[in-house]
Amino acid sequence: MTKTTGIQWQAVVNGKAREIEVPPSRRLLDILREDLDLTGTKISCEIGRCGACMVLIDGEPMNSCLMMAYQCAGSEITTIEGLHGETAEELHPIQEAFLEEGGFQCGYCTPGMIISTKALLDRIPQPGEQEIKEGLCGNLCRCTGYGGIMRAVESAADKCAYRSLPSPVVGP
Ligand code: FES
Ligand code: FES
Repeated sequence: MTKTTGIQWQAVVNGKAREIEVPPSRRLLDILREDLDLTGTKISCEIGRCGACMVLIDGEPMNSCLMMAYQCAGSEITTIEGLHGETAEELHPIQEAFLEEGGFQCGYCTPGMIISTKALLDRIPQPGEQEIKEGLCGNLCRCTGYGGIMRAVESAADKCAYRSLPSPVVGP
């Protein structure tokens, strides 16, 4: 039987340098949830269809269920736990907007939605309806019907523009 050799996986996760030994094909999703205890990133389809596991890798939204350890070693990774407002205790304006506009019901898709919204607003600070739909096209929600999510993204765009928070805003 062949034994898989581990790699020394290093990355900056939510602003902190992390280093662990993992098999090269270990999924980033499992590294985050099981090795680093960052369970805000959710597991659902596990085949890149739903966006529940979305994280930012070097600022780009990626499905962590499809990302192997060797593919993201050395990257800067931001998960939902890495977003906050002006202080670590405050919500990020995107999180506030989802709360205020009812952009969730069960909440299972919400971390992925918020991460995709962050990526969208970093790229297009005031997106139109079509740009919002395209920006969130990799995220599925089984509960809300998307109306609240659309309103939340529009409201988040206004809040982020108003507050001009630096990007990305990461945790301690
Ligand atoms: S769990 Fe990764 S895309 Fe669905
Ligand atoms: S709020 Fe339940 S899946 Fe979106």
